[in-house]
Amino acid sequence: MYILGISCYYHDAAAALLEDGKLVAAAEEERFTRIKHDFDFPKNAIEFCLSHAGISARDLDYLIFYEKPFHKFERILMTSFQSFPRSWNVFREAMIPWLSEKLWVKNTIMEKTGIEPDKVLFGEHHLSHAASAFYPSPFEEAAILTVDGVGEWTTASMGIGKGTEIKLLKEIKFPHSLGLLYSAFTAFLGFQVNEGEYKVMGMAPYGKPEYVDRIYDNLIKIADDGSFWLNMDYFSFHYSDDKMFNSKFENLFGKPRTPEMYFFTSETRFPSYFGEKPSNFNELCRENEHYADIAASIQRVTEEVILKLVNSLYKETGLKKLCIAGGVGLNSSANGRILRETPFEEIFIQPSAGDGGGALGAALHAYHGLLGKPRAFVMEHAYWGKEYAESEIKEFLKKNNISYQYFSDDEKLLDRLVDDLVGGKVAGWFQGRFEWGPRALGNRSILADPRSEEMKDLVNVKIKFREPFRPFAPVILEEHTGEYFSYGDKAVNQYPARYMLLVLPLKEGKAGNINAVNHLGTGRLQTIREEWNQRYYRLIKKFGQATGVPILLNTSFNLRGEPIVTSPANAFNTFSKSGIDILVLGNYMVRK
Ligand SMILES: [Fe+2]
Repeated sequence: MYILGISCYYHDAAAALLEDGKLVAAAEEERFTRIKHDFDFPKNAIEFCLSHAGISARDLDYLIFYEKPFHKFERILMTSFQSFPRSWNVFREAMIPWLSEKLWVKNTIMEKTGIEPDKVLFGEHHLSHAASAFYPSPFEEAAILTVDGVGEWTTASMGIGKGTEIKLLKEIKFPHSLGLLYSAFTAFLGFQVNEGEYKVMGMAPYGKPEYVDRIYDNLIKIADDGSFWLNMDYFSFHYSDDKMFNSKFENLFGKPRTPEMYFFTSETRFPSYFGEKPSNFNELCRENEHYADIAASIQRVTEEVILKLVNSLYKETGLKKLCIAGGVGLNSSANGRILRETPFEEIFIQPSAGDGGGALGAALHAYHGLLGKPRAFVMEHAYWGKEYAESEIKEFLKKNNISYQYFSDDEKLLDRLVDDLVGGKVAGWFQGRFEWGPRALGNRSILADPRSEEMKDLVNVKIKFREPFRPFAPVILEEHTGEYFSYGDKAVNQYPARYMLLVLPLKEGKAGNINAVNHLGTGRLQTIREEWNQRYYRLIKKFGQATGVPILLNTSFNLRGEPIVTSPANAFNTFSKSGIDILVLGNYMVRK
């Protein structure tokens, strides 16, 4: 039985295909269209899933959309009427795509895929999130938490999964939204909403949480069980399309940060790749530190709300296992605190925890929740995207007259690459199927030596041009996690660790050995085990044998502002436009 799940029209369109309850293929649409966070109908992702399985849309038993468009539409109508006439502009703007396309999702699906109407199903936004978190977990029974911006009405939900059943126990509804509160601060701090949230998280450790009381006194009320209410006097996301907060909010926190203003503090100093150090450096540092304090404060409040929700979920269910989904599930600092500070012993988060993952959740909900079929799948790795055959890579290189070296012996390629990495070279590493979700986990990665502070600058100068608050991540052989990270022994076997969704403190004696991936004493780690990705594991192991450090710097293989590379052509393009020294495409090596 084939079931296809899709998500689109908000952010991160995606498709995921199940065969008899087992995941066969899943991908976000942005990887094919090369438009970051593409939310349009996921035509290419669907085509990929079907062709990977060797079937056509006619072979599908069901196609399920991840939410209910009419319920969402109802929320937009009701909220617009409540805040009329302030909402008139946004209402008019919103009606155009809703009346022309979004409401008629079923017709669009039928038109674009040719599927019969009785095979098209609709899930519910937070149920899709919950299903994406629980069904692919190894747990027979677990507590479930979903937190995001907003779906139809729900912004957070708590429930229990048992066998094939998911029961939602409690919901929090729009406009009271932890995700949208975080996004309001994301906008205030000069970043793009739905994109810059992780930058706020990265900026937080540079500040002091001095505005926590101001946030609690004015913006959000929290009950002991974690239920929360926003004070809507300070926000405008319920009646404006382009503004998240209003002038009252600015009275509380001062003027918003200029978008894309360079971020640095006295701690980061002035990175060389920003150019010449400004004469008013100290003044700009103080200004940035003020914004870092605000980032630290909203991050602290978010963590506290999540911890309260999680603790009350534990009290209510008595279960020791927890599944998390929704955009807030990508807050790896908060995930680290759940692991360290709550009674939950095991946590599952799948790599596409945001709305893209809704496609997977919807498909699993159809199979288990609607059809009652037994569980058949645990997501042990993230490699569900498209793969390119050796012949395709060779053809691409030949056609474009690119000189290369071919290694029939993997070990030789890995040895050569380790020598290069130890020698300070930066490599683009492309192999197998691309990753599901926003993280590069060893099949579309840029890799480098993690040991020196200078490597951080080097990778930034050569490729990423990122600000200091965006840390590079360490990938570590799983068996060494406890040596380098506090709580490392507890993190081993935890799925968020293998999916780079967990921030942990580095052990004091070790932090200085890996300065390129040390973010003020913490690291957002990826643990790796041989059975998940043999070649990647072997590479890191060899690097460890050569240097005594079983860790590499792993960052996503893309240029700033672009989606992660998909094809050999994307990879080569990124390699040529950047300062990457070596490109590995499967068993082919290209050098500058
Ligand atoms: Fe969502």
